[in-house]
Amino acid sequence: MTKQWWKEAVVYQIYPRSFNDSNQDGIGDIKGITEKLDYLAKLGIEVIWLSPVYESPNDDNGYDISNYRAIISEFGTMKDFDEMLQEAHKRNIKIMMDLVVNHTSDEHSWFIESRSSKDNAYRDYYIWKQPNEDGSPPTNWGAAFGGSAWQYDDNTGEYYLHLFSKKQPDLNWENPKVRDDVYNMMTFWLDKGVDGFRMDVINMISKDQRFPNGEIQDTGYGDGSPYYLNGPRIHEFLQEMNQQVLSKYDTITVGEMPGVNAEQAKLYTGENRKELNMVFHFEHVDIGNGKYGKWTPEHWNLTELKTIFSRWQEGLEEDGWNSLYWSNHDQPRAISRFADDSEAYRVLSGKMLATCLHMLKGTPYIYQGEEIGMTNVAFESIDDYRDIETLNAFRDYTEKNLLTEEEIMQAIHKRGRDNARTPVQWSSRANAGFTEGEPWIPVNPNYKAINVEEALADPDSIFYYYQKLIALRKRYPVIVHGKYELLAKDDQQIYAYTRKWKEDTLLVICNFSSDLVSFNLPNHLEFVDKTLLIANYNVDETEEIDSVELKPYEARVYNLR
Ligand code: NOJ
Repeated sequence: MTKQWWKEAVVYQIYPRSFNDSNQDGIGDIKGITEKLDYLAKLGIEVIWLSPVYESPNDDNGYDISNYRAIISEFGTMKDFDEMLQEAHKRNIKIMMDLVVNHTSDEHSWFIESRSSKDNAYRDYYIWKQPNEDGSPPTNWGAAFGGSAWQYDDNTGEYYLHLFSKKQPDLNWENPKVRDDVYNMMTFWLDKGVDGFRMDVINMISKDQRFPNGEIQDTGYGDGSPYYLNGPRIHEFLQEMNQQVLSKYDTITVGEMPGVNAEQAKLYTGENRKELNMVFHFEHVDIGNGKYGKWTPEHWNLTELKTIFSRWQEGLEEDGWNSLYWSNHDQPRAISRFADDSEAYRVLSGKMLATCLHMLKGTPYIYQGEEIGMTNVAFESIDDYRDIETLNAFRDYTEKNLLTEEEIMQAIHKRGRDNARTPVQWSSRANAGFTEGEPWIPVNPNYKAINVEEALADPDSIFYYYQKLIALRKRYPVIVHGKYELLAKDDQQIYAYTRKWKEDTLLVICNFSSDLVSFNLPNHLEFVDKTLLIANYNVDETEEIDSVELKPYEARVYNLR
């Protein structure tokens, strides 16, 4: 076990567009973040992961970058950024940037050059291919936001690859000049003083150069993922990036990796591999995906969730490191997705989820608004949605008659990305105190009851519960380093586990249901002394725990010695 600061830290994700608007134009901005640093310091987080703030035409809200070294004007200036960084550091908060280098915007100067002619010096910065003989795209691959992954360009009569929207052309990592430019850009930001990177879909950067067709899916397109996920040169590229850039700084790195499993994660995060600190996997957030993935959501079981988490906990026990998250800007709100957002149980179940996640082994991530228990939103009209993925899915699935409008709207309410992108609810004032202008996306109508002001005024709020969880992490090394063991494996309502470190045994018991359930302590757990560290109900601390009656969504953590 090596002691590293990023193992001890809790990370807070900011999606700037929806965080806090300082100039009342309806769009969150960098000064808005600076204004709230004291709030974040109060919560106790030590790292901010900042979703992209770079220049972008916003086809995918900043995940389509047209200039990696400039700040998008609607978020402010480089001076605002430098000031934010300085103010964050003053409060011992580090800044982790979003690094989006699988693709750029089609408005990036590299792409403008690249598409201008076949012999342009930047042609090879992207992936260009001749059409098939019948004029069709080079492979049958579908893009993540619908349609083919190839876009024909009239100007030179070739197709370019875009695994996301057609305004997000994929960079050609085979080209050493591309890699050098990316490494120089990373160095630019690290020299400025940023503390690390969250790397967008980084396991997609190495493509199988044979470019085979994929197996045809229900959507009519081929699945290209076997040929671009964890591709042939991925480890070579990441080791090179580490050697040329990361190894020269003390950074935190996390790679977003769709389709990664725990075995592969060991290769990405193993201590001696010199690649990344941790990865974001998708196994738990994809739970219940149906025929059309998240657009046909199905019922999921707690035992499945426990199996997934346990596989990752055990898989990375000896080597590598986990990241822990329920939600982010691409996912629905944690409470609505994994617990119960009804009035009766929102607060209790929000605290339960927080307990369950923060006591696991790994670095916990809090998505903005999670700390006050924000919930999903259900706009009635598709016109209130802004996300390209959501809007394209609505159009494609209804046009092709794969889903009815009602079905796709229901799925959007459950799983759409805009659930996480409605503005942070700061107060009960107009627009939840996010802006005095017209917000770029409507606020969740429940802001009068659920907001930061309310949470800070209530000692029993979810906010103070998170604050306590973070404080416990700093006090008890067992929370950072303890070895995980799953208890009551087959129980459909209770997720219970222990974490062992030196003479401490953390016992975590979480009821994921609204039923009263009993938990029986396994015989092999011996102890003479127990301390209740945190609970979301009032618990009599002297109560015997051989058999515990749990209330709806009850969560308790004991330290046993
Ligand atoms: C993952 C990001 O989190 C998501 O928001 C984005 O749309 C895709 N990658 C493409 O960059």
